[in-house]
Amino acid sequence: MKIKKIFATAAMALATLGSSAVWANNQDPVRVFYYSLNDMYINQLSTSLQDLAIGSGIKIAQFDAQDDLMRQASQIQTALSVNKKKTPILVNPVDNQNGLNALRAAKQQNVPIIFFNRKPTQEALSSYKDAWYVGSNINQAGYYQASLVIEALKQHPEIDRNKDGYINYVILKGEPSHVDTAARSNVFVRTMLDAGIKLKPVAIASGQWSPSVAQNEMTRIISEKGIASIELIVSNNDAMALGAIKSLQAVGYNNPDVPNSQFIPVFGIDAIPSALEAIERGVMTGTVLNDYKATADVMIRMAKAYIDGQPITEDLIGYPIKNCTIEIPYSPIYNFNLGTAAAETKK
Ligand code: GAL
Repeated sequence: MKIKKIFATAAMALATLGSSAVWANNQDPVRVFYYSLNDMYINQLSTSLQDLAIGSGIKIAQFDAQDDLMRQASQIQTALSVNKKKTPILVNPVDNQNGLNALRAAKQQNVPIIFFNRKPTQEALSSYKDAWYVGSNINQAGYYQASLVIEALKQHPEIDRNKDGYINYVILKGEPSHVDTAARSNVFVRTMLDAGIKLKPVAIASGQWSPSVAQNEMTRIISEKGIASIELIVSNNDAMALGAIKSLQAVGYNNPDVPNSQFIPVFGIDAIPSALEAIERGVMTGTVLNDYKATADVMIRMAKAYIDGQPITEDLIGYPIKNCTIEIPYSPIYNFNLGTAAAETKK
């Protein structure tokens, strides 16, 4: 009798599974287009998106443009031509023109388009009722990064190693064409100056968001200017910060447990897991969370709402919506133990 009951339940469960499997197979996937999955932050975002999609029963298909404009244009074009169910597409454009072309094509075919990470112009966004942008507040990252540096300087005035009253810093900016690049650096410098901190740039490098490019650039800066001339490294993302740390480690700095005199504070942005680990180990000093999990969560909720025929509301998303834009807040993360000597002083 008992066994029968279990069988009956199992059969029912199978039947339910069977029908949902059929539904899932018929579902057009939510297609996601990335500018480059080689980018450590974007890669992390893609992992979060896959995890959350599985949890929400949403099928996704991911496309990597490998930073190639033409490749992305053709990926989007092909995807739109097979998207019979008008399932939303998620787009991290290689550049603004690509974004605009995608938006026009999506609008023509009534396919909702959700941009992320690289914001199209407001004009473009406003030109289609089913166009959205999910990203982070452009000025907040630089502000939080500066706040972390200000606090670190308060706790460790010895960061100004030559005691000339200026903080001699290297800045790693990121891809020149990216809107975050200038905004993060400008707000960082302005916030530092407003706090009365005097800055002297040792070098300003691009780093292209990439750890290996940043490492090479930093190695060159160290050999040209000398390690003794650098008191702080401020990077517009964690990937470049991690590359810079490797070049510091190659000259005996920022290894775990080095004395405070062989430690240069390095600050990044993104809070990718490898940077959190570096902060935990005390080889990096701080970062600002560019919340990839929340970004992925909002996009999955929006995609699901479209698939279920529900409206996109602030209640559903959990964040305010302004001008078709959802801004996820940043938050600062740090470890102000600058080498072992500093940790001892703090105790
Ligand atoms: C930024 C992120 C960088 C890089 C860039 C790519 O928001 O902080 O690490 O991923 O986007 O567009």
